[in-house]
Amino acid sequence: MRAFTRMLSLVIIAVSLLGVVSYSAVTKSDAAGLFKSKCSMCHGLDGKGYPAIHTPNFTSSQWQQRHSDARIAAAIANGVQGTSMPAWKTKLSTAQIHALVLYIRSLNSAKGQ
Ligand code: HEC
Repeated sequence: MRAFTRMLSLVIIAVSLLGVVSYSAVTKSDAAGLFKSKCSMCHGLDGKGYPAIHTPNFTSSQWQQRHSDARIAAAIANGVQGTSMPAWKTKLSTAQIHALVLYIRSLNSAKGQ
């Protein structure tokens, strides 16, 4: 019974620590979730975009080469004027925008080459 109580308190400590960590950092799976809920309707779940609404193909290595991290972050924060790409800076934190830049980078079909 004592062992069980000790085990239970360890589990409770572990779960609360996990909670603290997930509040302080935007993880890769958070970024995937953000992309799915806020971006995929226009950019596609796979990030390949939709030609009909002129969204770029994030998986294209040429697209990736032509766009710096700073440009991608600025486009997410400020939107792209004159297009349907919205500004996210009032809805997402800087950390979330940074995590989305990394997520978009991870979609590059030429990564690791
Ligand atoms: C309502 C539709 C819509 C939503 C929602 C949307 N986008 Fe876009 N996005 C666009 C369009 C359209 C473009 C192409 C703009 C252009 O013609 O340059 C674009 C372009 C971009 C670009 C490229 C900008 C550049 O400089 O070429 C990035 C990066 C991007 N979006 C990221 C995101 C992210 C991340 C989200 C979610 C947080 C998101 N978008 C949500 C429509 C959308």
